[in-house]
Amino acid sequence: MSLRLGDIAPDFTATTTEGTIEFHKWLGNSWGVLFSHPADFTPVCTTELGAVAKIKSEFDKRGVKAIAVSVDPINSHHNWIKDINETQSVSMNFPIIADDNRAVATAYNMIHPNADDKATVRSVFIVGPDKKIKLTLTYPASTGRNFLEILRVIDSLQLTANHKVATPANWKHGEDCIVSPSVPDEQAKSLFPKGFRTVKPYLRYTPQPNLK
Ligand code: BEZ
Repeated sequence: MSLRLGDIAPDFTATTTEGTIEFHKWLGNSWGVLFSHPADFTPVCTTELGAVAKIKSEFDKRGVKAIAVSVDPINSHHNWIKDINETQSVSMNFPIIADDNRAVATAYNMIHPNADDKATVRSVFIVGPDKKIKLTLTYPASTGRNFLEILRVIDSLQLTANHKVATPANWKHGEDCIVSPSVPDEQAKSLFPKGFRTVKPYLRYTPQPNLK
């Protein structure tokens, strides 16, 4: 069965380009982004791994560890990294899992046989420090993902986790947030010292709480 939001992200031990990783232990208290690739030495995947390597400092700032997975073997990954570094002008800085026995792909239901019975689709799992799944995304092999959107979702998830706010459509860092419906007005007054405005009783905005 597919994994759903709120489920515990399956734990695994895997060979990666940065050595053997026990997933939950490796995450520690961090958030995690686990994302799959159809195959090594493919054009879209090459650009995606380069894109994540370029914004690793943004993941670090948010306390998030990124880890990629594809069903090719470790030697192939190491060779592919040379191409990623060369073509994307990066130095790879996060692990790629060698999932040649498909253990991770199977646990996370990343192979969709009606799309491709051998390779994984482009799955994304965001995992919280409680090891629960906070977001799932599935893209087809032919569409590269927007990793700035992944950062945007992480910002939203962390605001919700820490400040009892939600974020509206197309929200971006710095814009007003929505007071969680579960927070009564009286509590909102003390929780949001910058104030909040009520458009409807169920639609209340407050400045992004973690900004000065
Ligand atoms: C790619 O990563 O470029 C790719 C992989 C499978 C199908 C299409 C594109």
